[in-house]
Amino acid sequence: MPLLHWLTRDEDIHTATHTPYRLLEQVAEHSHGEPDTGNMLVQGDNLDALKALLPYYAGKVKCIFIDPPYNTRSAFEHYDDNLEHAKWLALMYPRLELLHSLLSEDGSIWVTIDDNEGHYLKVIMDEVFGRKNFIATIAWEKDKGGRGDADISSSHDMVLAYAINRKIWATKRNLLERNVVQAGRFRNPDNDPRGAWRQGDDGTAKSGTDKQRFPITLPSGRVVRPKVGRYWAFSEETFNLALAEGRVYFGRNGDRLPVIKRYADVVREGVAPRTWWPAEEAGTNQSAKRDHLRKLLPDIEPFATPKPEQLLRLIVHISTNPGELVLDSFLGSGTTAAVAHKMGRRYIGIEMGNHAITHCVPRLQKVIEGEQGGISEAVGWQGGGGFRFYKLGVPVFDENGQVSPCIRFAPLAAHLWFVSTGIPYKGSATSPFLGEHEDVGYYLLFNGILGDLTADGGNVLTGRILASLPNHDGQKVIFGESCRLSAERLQAERITFRQIPYEIKAR
Ligand SMILES: C[S@@+](CC[C@H](N)C(=O)[O-])C[C@H]1O[C@@H](n2cnc3c(N)ncnc32)[C@H](O)[C@@H]1O
Repeated sequence: MPLLHWLTRDEDIHTATHTPYRLLEQVAEHSHGEPDTGNMLVQGDNLDALKALLPYYAGKVKCIFIDPPYNTRSAFEHYDDNLEHAKWLALMYPRLELLHSLLSEDGSIWVTIDDNEGHYLKVIMDEVFGRKNFIATIAWEKDKGGRGDADISSSHDMVLAYAINRKIWATKRNLLERNVVQAGRFRNPDNDPRGAWRQGDDGTAKSGTDKQRFPITLPSGRVVRPKVGRYWAFSEETFNLALAEGRVYFGRNGDRLPVIKRYADVVREGVAPRTWWPAEEAGTNQSAKRDHLRKLLPDIEPFATPKPEQLLRLIVHISTNPGELVLDSFLGSGTTAAVAHKMGRRYIGIEMGNHAITHCVPRLQKVIEGEQGGISEAVGWQGGGGFRFYKLGVPVFDENGQVSPCIRFAPLAAHLWFVSTGIPYKGSATSPFLGEHEDVGYYLLFNGILGDLTADGGNVLTGRILASLPNHDGQKVIFGESCRLSAERLQAERITFRQIPYEIKAR
């Protein structure tokens, strides 16, 4: 497959692997509402943040939306959008790789972009996600008017959509509600008590077999057959069954070629999304800024290029169901998080700028309070829920592969618990016994948790340490620096020993 080459490509394709695992530290003062919803706002560079999330969320995210800098050569109020071309590719490539690892097998990623980098993005996404998993390029009408001073006024952005597995995704994606125009195609000219219908297998077709040239007697008494070279679009059995069930329409006077009806309630609910998303359905940059954000946060300088909630609603609706996880690693003013929140999805938003605090936090606070802008009315949003705010902590392992000296017991315990069980740690981490999951007891010997602060005090599993540990009847997993117990003793005690750091870097 042809690949895109740029100056630093050979380094950039290894960036994600070389990025260290870091811990995430909760910041209580910026967290709001119900604490245990699983919703997260993370402030920091998304390369580090995505890597930090990997042990916890690899394969668990259903939908990723990102709106990265388009590289338009502008310096916006809140972020710089002027990278050298190769640097932009160096920004995107490793992040796309990490995003790929986070998606579930039925997951999808949606990326807004314009002509500055869009076609290069397509080529690197083909490489990371696979050409066969490309879903579509949506044209979103971002601007209703035109710019008189432009040589060609740009009215749309692209939304590139990829699945982890296009075939699986196609069976899981949601249809869109029929809009008024599409619903209008269903009519009821004969007052059929089963409701509105539209033409299904209609009239004649260019191809078929001789069996599809049988005579039909119309209610008017006229006998009809397809013209020479044409065939009924249905078989005789299908026609007779539909006739017996009263599902054939012969026109107002019973003298027109037959039409087999398809009722609105049996045609699949909704319509397949199209690649053209007009402003009336998806909103515009201006509508997001003027009609929503300025009113929502009147005291804050509005974010330069917010995406409208309607656009995100379409993406979240098509690609997820309530309770599923949505991620945006270029969160900006928090649109994706606000939409996911209002639509009952869980979310993780990552933003490195200070607007994580000045824009996203107050916006989501208002959402929790039940604000009625954006898509609130359309989805019946009443308020509630909550999120936790995090900042990036220190790397878990130093450059020599050792647990960093400043790592404390509690965050390492949470990291190991999550890596081992796949669920967040809810314990207090004040004892070497972290808790029990599926009948297995988990222990961590680290940083003098047993009160012995000598060099490797309490971090080595010995007979004396084992005797002092809180009891757990059944299988035990013990994390520690080293183990002095024999293999026979470990087996007899039903212990699996896992050495820090070598056995815990990733799942
Ligand atoms: C186009 S804006 C996103 C706007 C957003 N969709 C909205 O509706 O408000 C891009 C954002 O990505 C952020 N960003 C750029 N590079 C980043 C990085 N490496 N890590 C995290 N955020 C980054 C910028 O600070 C900016 O807020």
